[in-house]
Amino acid sequence: MNTPTHSAPAQIRIFDTTLRDGEQSPGCSMTPQQKVVMARGLADLGVDIIETGFPASSQSDREAHALIARDLRDTTLAVLSRCLPGDIETSLRTLSASARPRLHLFLSTSPLHREHKLRMSREQVLQSIDTHVRLARGHVDEIEFSAEDATRTEEDFLHDAIAAAIAAGATTINLPDTVGFTTPEEIRAMFERAIAKVAGADRVVFSAHCHNDLGLAVANSLAAIEGGARQVEGSINGIGERAGNCAIEELVMALKVRNAFYNLDTRIDTQRIVPTSQLLSRLVGMPVQRNKAIVGANAFAHESGIHQHGMLRHRGTYEIMQPQDVGWPSSQMVLGRHSGRAAVEQRLRALGYWLEEDELKLVFEQFKALCERQRVVGDADLQALMQDAAVSDGYRLASMTISDVGSRANALVELSDPDGNRIAETAQGNGPVDALFGALSAATGVQLQLESYQVHSVGIGADARGEASLSVRCDGEEYEGTGTSKDIIEASALAWLDVANRLLRQRRVEQQEVAAA
Ligand code: KIV
Ligand code: ZN
Repeated sequence: MNTPTHSAPAQIRIFDTTLRDGEQSPGCSMTPQQKVVMARGLADLGVDIIETGFPASSQSDREAHALIARDLRDTTLAVLSRCLPGDIETSLRTLSASARPRLHLFLSTSPLHREHKLRMSREQVLQSIDTHVRLARGHVDEIEFSAEDATRTEEDFLHDAIAAAIAAGATTINLPDTVGFTTPEEIRAMFERAIAKVAGADRVVFSAHCHNDLGLAVANSLAAIEGGARQVEGSINGIGERAGNCAIEELVMALKVRNAFYNLDTRIDTQRIVPTSQLLSRLVGMPVQRNKAIVGANAFAHESGIHQHGMLRHRGTYEIMQPQDVGWPSSQMVLGRHSGRAAVEQRLRALGYWLEEDELKLVFEQFKALCERQRVVGDADLQALMQDAAVSDGYRLASMTISDVGSRANALVELSDPDGNRIAETAQGNGPVDALFGALSAATGVQLQLESYQVHSVGIGADARGEASLSVRCDGEEYEGTGTSKDIIEASALAWLDVANRLLRQRRVEQQEVAAA
């Protein structure tokens, strides 16, 4: 990577244009109130500058800015303005509400735009830049000037335009790839040469603003950074005109994951990335495509057997960053047609089912048969499979008798053990449940430390049943179990046995694994 030739900060400033360029794109418009909610999310994410809108274009953008400015006092707020006195006046009035204002002026510099859009000569463009940047700078300290369509502008003229903006007082120079036309090599060279050649370049921050028409917005923004840009403009989920803008989440994670290469930081709290992406998606009603980098639902999901197997051995085999680093709770092992036995076994264990070799073989066959009928197999499907599977479920309750003796209770339980033998045990306790659990413990030899115990009713009227849920601790690990019955004491016994049987099965399977190793 080239060392930038101007005095560049070691951090990349993130200029967020979700609320302006992003909001301008079809299907993404937001009300002022929605913009406020999004702006708070962006501030929490840690973006440096929020572009709230284009005040001269709509009352709604002016209103949004006023509301955001009231709320966010520590984040720089920018508004976009054409190089027109009327636009600048409206923008200045809008910006007067902000604690940290920035005026973002733009004018096209490319021959195509000069001739067909502006109908202005080179000299007129330079004159307009000088006049309007000077006018704005008389009122606001932070002036960003954008040479619209910079990447299709003749280099000598682009340098003249940048020099004019700097001489008139611009503090940030943005060189947009307005139509997503450039390539990484070209944009890097464009920044390098502008920074090296234009008088006063060392006094300003250079900024990249890349569109995604060829799917190169993030790559081009990274290349611009290599060329010396120290501000990048982009949007959450990459929304923006046509194919969108540089996706901030992708750029930020590229800088973070490849920090050894770029050696540059941002102020972004990366764990806020997924919540912010989902907030935007909900606000504008635009779902994030599943395979979108970083924020798509598949970004940390693995279905193929080979990948799942690799992931279970070492996550680094198929993941270059931790899902938690960007705000996902965990990686996801999606069980489906391509999944292997190791992944199914791991998921079953997470659900509390520890299967012996021959049982797993059987359940895996049933799993594969299910995958022929449905694309994804969820936890509820696995639980249903386990209920149907011919897997021995350990101790079974044959009968129980509870009696109260003054303040103490007596319990007698009769169980059948995994080999079908009958065992009877009694115990006393402070109440019926305490006595019951004591008798079950004596019959099975399992000691469980009760963490929580709840009973609630499921169903209504005469069909209502009691469901007991237990959470216990054993050997430092936590286990949960449930039992359902018309009788709540019996439901409690079933919940206790549910936990004990899982635990015994887990110990048995672990012993077999140690013996086989
Ligand atoms: O794409 C572009 O050129 C812009 C400018 C207004 C910065 O959005
Ligand atoms: Zn743009």
